[in-house]
Amino acid sequence: MIKIAPSILAADFSKLAEEVIEVEEAGASLIHIDVMDGHFVPNITMGPLVVEALRPVTKLPLDVHLMIENPDAYIEQFAKAGADYITVHVEACPHLHRTLQLIRSHGVKSGVVLNPHTPVETILHVLDEIDLVLFMTVNPGFGGQKFIHAVLPKVKQLSNIIKERNLPIEIEIDGGVDEETIIPCVEAGATILVAGSAIFGKQNRAEALREIKAAGEG
Ligand code: DX5
Ligand code: ZN
Repeated sequence: MIKIAPSILAADFSKLAEEVIEVEEAGASLIHIDVMDGHFVPNITMGPLVVEALRPVTKLPLDVHLMIENPDAYIEQFAKAGADYITVHVEACPHLHRTLQLIRSHGVKSGVVLNPHTPVETILHVLDEIDLVLFMTVNPGFGGQKFIHAVLPKVKQLSNIIKERNLPIEIEIDGGVDEETIIPCVEAGATILVAGSAIFGKQNRAEALREIKAAGEG
């Protein structure tokens, strides 16, 4: 069973609630929310207000991907707004262990994100603090970019470690996922697949989501 997490970054913001309801009804498993601050990444998107506004709209877990500097300062706000997962970038966290504990202290599942160039070794000593590892298969900042295949050996590497140690950690992939690139992602061990433009860029979101999911499930 794989899980699809539509990224609302590519949705129509003038009718965000309808967009979320449509993908929930079509079989989405989580809603992926991309938070960008214009510092860690060269783009500005949304904050806790959007999480709060979507919380009553859907029963699905809200998967909040923080692409911001100093995430510690905002974790409480996102937790109170209704985030179910908060993922932080390794590259933005000098005290990663503390940040992950802070996320869990608010009753939220903790996730770590690795940029395409960041090795798996950077998280090996905090695996007990992590519910989810998110591998970026594009450079974060924008939707609609090309999938970077060179990331997949890292996914396989972590997947093997998780199996060997029998750890309860989900592996998520984000960036350029569509009905073709999802296949090697699942083969490498991904369990949650984020898709933005491959779903919300299509006229029929429900059909697009079902096609991607079917391709991933083989
Ligand atoms: C990129 C974001 C992604 C983005 C994915 O920085 O983290 O979640 O929305 O968009 P697509 O699926 O279009 O690559
Ligand atoms: Zn994302």
